[in-house]
Amino acid sequence: MRPVRYAMVGGGEGAFIGPVHRTAAAIAGNCQLVAGAFSRDPARAARSGEALGLPAERSYPSWSALLDGERDLPADERAEFIAIVTPNHLHAPVAIAALEAGFPVLTDKPLTDTIAAAESFANAADRTGGLVGVTHTYAAYPMVRQARELVAGNRLGAVRRVAVRYTQGWLARAEDAVGKQAEWRLDPARSGLAGAFGDIGTHAFNLVETITGDPITRLSAELRAAVPGRTLDDDGAAMFHLAGGGRGTLIASQVCAGDANGLAISIWCEEAGVHWAQENPNVLRVARRNGPEEIWTPGADRGYLDPPAMRVTRTPSGHPEGYLEAFANIYHDFALAVRGRPPEDRCYASLAEGMRSMRFIAAAHRSSADNARWVELENDA
Ligand SMILES: NC(=O)c1ccc[n+]([C@@H]2O[C@H](COP(=O)([O-])OP(=O)(O)OC[C@H]3O[C@@H](n4cnc5c(N)ncnc54)[C@H](O)[C@@H]3O)[C@@H](O)[C@H]2O)c1
Repeated sequence: MRPVRYAMVGGGEGAFIGPVHRTAAAIAGNCQLVAGAFSRDPARAARSGEALGLPAERSYPSWSALLDGERDLPADERAEFIAIVTPNHLHAPVAIAALEAGFPVLTDKPLTDTIAAAESFANAADRTGGLVGVTHTYAAYPMVRQARELVAGNRLGAVRRVAVRYTQGWLARAEDAVGKQAEWRLDPARSGLAGAFGDIGTHAFNLVETITGDPITRLSAELRAAVPGRTLDDDGAAMFHLAGGGRGTLIASQVCAGDANGLAISIWCEEAGVHWAQENPNVLRVARRNGPEEIWTPGADRGYLDPPAMRVTRTPSGHPEGYLEAFANIYHDFALAVRGRPPEDRCYASLAEGMRSMRFIAAAHRSSADNARWVELENDA
């Protein structure tokens, strides 16, 4: 298969996730960056495109110029999908315009900033029939794919309890909040309805629904700004119910001093507990009620792994894979989908899954504003 051509919106000089996406796309091996609108500042955008080796005419001063320019190119030259790596408030407007112009869209999470914008995004996808993927990265690790086989595959019995936490410390104090990444994340106009619950809580939420295969139906949440003066939550916790009867707790906080990227999940089923932590991602611990503890590890020579875990493992056992490779799994599968051949166990989140994360943010916000009242997650029609 010839590489799938893609264009990027955002991800210019000094950006965090854009370079991660590009590295991942290169690891995936079936994608090729052909164009970009890398910054809202045209000079910065041009410098970024040049540094990436793009011809000047494919490095656009704005995302609307990119969509116009690429649409006008011959079909065998133009970008085949648009990757969106801007702050949250731009995901929906860029995606809607891209879908209207006939481009599939791979957007970073959360889907966008508000429920209204997310609904417009979903309507545009319905109207155009365009393909949408969302990069809920952590679902794409080999050991998470394996955990899903065990838990959602009902090999350990029904889920009884889930404990998921996503704790970071980089916004622990007011003076820590420096740089562009902190600036927009703390601004409701660019971040959206929630702060930490949107930024990292949505990853935790997606991980729960991915591994259990069971939707969260209702929750009770307390969100707060632990650091005085902030408008959005930087810390919070929720209790939740799963449709299948399981119960769980979710913590999302960016004020846990000393923590880096502490995403960790435990799922206790009737027969065993399954434990995975993002900072040690090549270990899946399965502790059985009636047997010794098991340590599952990835590797292209691990015959005991199930196909969905095996398929996304690149290296022999003992050669760690992590964040970049998980993103690469997403790019790989999305590129296949763009060419009309999505794998059955695709690693990217669907639009519906992105929408679920938005419903989660909205429900947590609603609950917290009403003294942690239990609220139902609204379903999509
Ligand atoms: N999946 C993950 O693990 C993960 C991790 C980090 C961030 N993210 C998501 O990625 C997105 C970006 O986050 P980040 O930390 O990289 O932010 P960032 O501030 O580092 O980068 C944002 C980029 O968007 C560009 N931009 C802003 N307005 C633009 C416009 N009008 N046109 C073109 N470019 C524009 C900025 O110049 C910058 O290059 C967010 O939605 C965030 O939630 C996801």
